[in-house]
Amino acid sequence: MSEVVSYERDGDVGVITVDNPPVNALGHAVRQGIVDALDKGIADDGAKALLIIGGGRTFPAGADIREFGKPPQEPGLPDVVQTLEDSEKLLVAAVHGTALGGGMEITLGCDYRVALDSAKMGLPEVNLGLLPGAGGTQRLPRLIGAKAAMQAIVEGKPMKAAQLEKMGVVDHVVSGDLKAEAIAYAEKLIADNAPRRKVSELPVEKESDDVFSEFEKSIARKKRGFLAPFHCIKAVQAAATESSFEAGMKRERELFTELLNSPESAAQRHVFFAEREVGKVPGISKETPKREIKQVGIIGAGTMGGGIAMNFLSAGIPVKMLEMKQEALDKGVALIRKNYEATAKKGRITSEQVEQCMSLVSTSLSYDDLSDVDLVIEAVFENMKVKKTVFGELDRVCKDGAILATNTSTLDVNEIAQSTKRPQDVIGMHFFSPANVMKLLENVRGEATSDEVIATVMDLSKRIGKVGVLVGVCNGFVGNRILHKRQAQAVQLVNEGATPSQVDKVLFDFGLPMGPFAMADLAGLDVGWRIREGLREDDPANAPERDWMDALAEQERWGQKTGGGVFDYAEGDRTPRPSDTAMAEIEKYRKEKGIETRDVSDQEILERCLYVMVNEGAKILEEGIAMRPLDVDIVWIYGYGFPVYRGGLMFWADQVGLDAIHAKVKQFHDESGDAAWAPSPLLEKLASEGRKFGDL
Ligand code: 3HC
Ligand code: NAI
Repeated sequence: MSEVVSYERDGDVGVITVDNPPVNALGHAVRQGIVDALDKGIADDGAKALLIIGGGRTFPAGADIREFGKPPQEPGLPDVVQTLEDSEKLLVAAVHGTALGGGMEITLGCDYRVALDSAKMGLPEVNLGLLPGAGGTQRLPRLIGAKAAMQAIVEGKPMKAAQLEKMGVVDHVVSGDLKAEAIAYAEKLIADNAPRRKVSELPVEKESDDVFSEFEKSIARKKRGFLAPFHCIKAVQAAATESSFEAGMKRERELFTELLNSPESAAQRHVFFAEREVGKVPGISKETPKREIKQVGIIGAGTMGGGIAMNFLSAGIPVKMLEMKQEALDKGVALIRKNYEATAKKGRITSEQVEQCMSLVSTSLSYDDLSDVDLVIEAVFENMKVKKTVFGELDRVCKDGAILATNTSTLDVNEIAQSTKRPQDVIGMHFFSPANVMKLLENVRGEATSDEVIATVMDLSKRIGKVGVLVGVCNGFVGNRILHKRQAQAVQLVNEGATPSQVDKVLFDFGLPMGPFAMADLAGLDVGWRIREGLREDDPANAPERDWMDALAEQERWGQKTGGGVFDYAEGDRTPRPSDTAMAEIEKYRKEKGIETRDVSDQEILERCLYVMVNEGAKILEEGIAMRPLDVDIVWIYGYGFPVYRGGLMFWADQVGLDAIHAKVKQFHDESGDAAWAPSPLLEKLASEGRKFGDL
């Protein structure tokens, strides 16, 4: 008998247990094990019904994703499910944990489904760029109707046991000891002489083609660029329109195979593993001690401070906010309340939850009140002198072992740490705006930051619902450093003859949520302008020269918030519209500089904006600022909306081919002499060796 699947008998019920930690994924050994155990159960005369259950924490959570892309090994999952359904004995699935994907499909091959009240089931294949390929698209419509099945499969979200019972997927919800309850249920089915219920033999109610095309239209914007949601719809449509279950299964297989071989699915599978890998820091293990974070202090209740506080409040962690003036505190706390109330209005949280979160906030004007917090996050003005004063105060008042974090976006974390006598306790926690919404958290490791502090902060990131990526100290860290290089190219492309709308359209069509100029208008042109003005004052010799973006900012065209920036905006509308004022400033700048404009192709825009990012990403890797290419991928996916179906910046570069990218980088460097195009030695090396970032 297989080691990962066992068979035993309990009274009249034969029990098949899958035990393949951590999530009982349905790899080859498990699939073979289930078929063997089923044979055993069928041959066991004492077994009048069979039960299939997961050992450990869950019912199988799906196919083994690591096997995708490798040569298939028999028996395949669709065959296993069919074998279960065709078995001579009545079969009951007993579900706990998360029966996802192939796991849920296994349950659909059984006659009856029992679930623990805490269990969840769902078909999340769409998130991996796939569709349920073991009969899920054909059996679920037979249980709950094509329309509901299509919605569940395209959404891909796990559903709770109670909801599944209402939908008619789960027959019986139990609490307590699942195995005992499920055996009792099976005994009752035997006693009642309950009928077999093969899902594939149930009829599917007919739906008009309009139902499918309307649904496709309704998701077109949200799922732009993804292939799988649309294939999922086609597969469910086949269930409702094909003449037989077998014909529907054939269509499901064709569509599944197309997806399995698609670049979109390869990218999405990469992201699945990358998301889990970013949390693993070489040198830090489960054994690395962590500090307990029971109370947090936040300095500065401005744009970032308030948003940062909400993450902790929502996770049930009390927050003390500190400001220079009572008005600033009142304003910050009022904004937190307003944000929660807006969420409650949308029905996402209850008004009790709003009050619960608000009851966890306290405020103070005195540093002495921070003596008992376990972590402080500083979010005051972006000014080294101010930050050093703040950290000096924190060093004075905070208890031993408190973690001192800064949310700086550009300043040197090491220099900030040096203003304390405990640099080992200092770390950067770079939240992205709006901090209560954006999932990315760049945790910045200083030279002296201890492993214990890193382990605590990485763990805490998860606890507050963020994806924490550990990065090193440099200007802009990983995300903004790469962004600035792209922004500079975008401006230069416009100087040379492109329009802001053309540049934005190319990057939007590539799959980014917005182009560089719409993004600048969203962030506010005043932000970059103030930084550049500061540099012009402090270090005129090395400051950037004044350009048309500065001219727009000087006219108080700061973007969306002032009704116009690089683009114009109609009242209450965020759609960027080409602006005559901005074009006039661009023309003026070109004239001043004596630039002769030319037609800039969309291809050049794409290459210059994206390859400069790849080159910078490679430099970031060789400097050790990011630990692995996948860290850069995750930063760009969660911080800037890089399309998931392209797998992130470095994964995408691998698909394009590093040789081709390197050749272009070199060409742009030769043509422009711009240091941003100086080829990264790492990129050069990988390209010459025919290797990929993924090989590192
Ligand atoms: N295949 C292979 N490995 C898997 C896996 C799977 N289906 N699901 C999870 N794992 C691995 C993870 O990579 C992780 O490995 P690591 O410890 O080495 O990093 C480990 O199991 C634990 O996973 P999580 O850290 O995600 O644990 P959580 O408790 O947070 O979450 C879970 C558990 C909800 C099951 C989550 O892992 C999950 O969503 N898994 C994917 C489920 C899924 O997409 N199933 C469908 C697969 S495709 C399919 O079935 C095709 C079929 O229709 C033909
Ligand atoms: P903000 O100007 O909105 O808020 C700063 C707040 O700090 C103000 O309310 C101010 O009264 C308070 N403050 C200033 N000095 C203080 C002191 N000594 N003690 C107590 N409070 C003090 O600024 P914002 O945008 O919230 O930025 C804060 C920090 O977050 C900066 O370091 C910034 O670089 C960083 N950041 C900003 C992002 C953004 O998009 N706004 C994104 C990521 C990081």
